[in-house]
Amino acid sequence: MKNLVSMKDLSVDQIMAILKQAQAFREGAHSTVKNSYTMANLFFEPSTRTKMSFEMAERNLQVGVIPFEAGFSSTLKGETLYDTVKVLEAIGLDALVIRHEENSFFEQLVGKVKPAIINGGDGTGNHPTQSLLDIYTIWQEFGTLQDIVVTIVGDIAHSRVARSNADALTRLGATVHLVCPPEWQGEFDTFNEFDKVIESSDVVMMLRVQHERHDSNMTFSKEDYHQAFGLTVERERKMKDKAIIMHPAPFNRDVEIASELVECDRSRIFKQMENGVYIRMAIIEIILKGRE
Ligand code: CP
Repeated sequence: MKNLVSMKDLSVDQIMAILKQAQAFREGAHSTVKNSYTMANLFFEPSTRTKMSFEMAERNLQVGVIPFEAGFSSTLKGETLYDTVKVLEAIGLDALVIRHEENSFFEQLVGKVKPAIINGGDGTGNHPTQSLLDIYTIWQEFGTLQDIVVTIVGDIAHSRVARSNADALTRLGATVHLVCPPEWQGEFDTFNEFDKVIESSDVVMMLRVQHERHDSNMTFSKEDYHQAFGLTVERERKMKDKAIIMHPAPFNRDVEIASELVECDRSRIFKQMENGVYIRMAIIEIILKGRE
């Protein structure tokens, strides 16, 4: 694996190798990368989890990290993403994590620049490291992905998490249901009745309502959305005994998920964040070893 830009580029065997490497790191394994490497994290859209957990993963692997602040960079003087990456290549960076508002921003970089490119989220396109940590969390919970029923609920059309997860989970043998209001269906086959699938789901994955990606205000109130498509306390009671709640976060409390469910026994939301460090360590380890 030279870069990681989309789940579609990863075979089932490659996905499983990343999960197993993440598990090894969780159990205390050390990096076997021989050379010393330097990375930078280029975030042109806001992030707390992805940026901070990449930084933690890089530190854990003893990779050098050069700080990059998009808001104080020469991109504000009109320097393009490609030219910025060429600068970092010239300075000697080995790998870059990039989050950018442009869908498929990586197409202008992969195969054209020397640093490895890791996609930290492209517009409404892909979020492969989130998908891998989600898959890892489900695998850790159930010991398999085969025949696990995963219901993803919310802003499907605008969600790079839904896009990345629907494809990968299906290839791994899970059954994926997508639930959303008809106006957020995008190119997907979706249900618009959450209650029809909640009782048969092993995983209920709620998505953030992405107010910043909507052209106009929501056509329904937060309260109406919560009742129709939110994980309410009443719906949570219908879940199977062993079923879990996930959310990539950040979450809108009492919009897509009742506030009291965020930290309930079934919630794996903070476990996902913890797992994100091990998954990102695994991705960096595999990519850097591939450069030796
Ligand atoms: N889940 C996720 O990508 O969170 P951040 O936007 O905080 O990185």
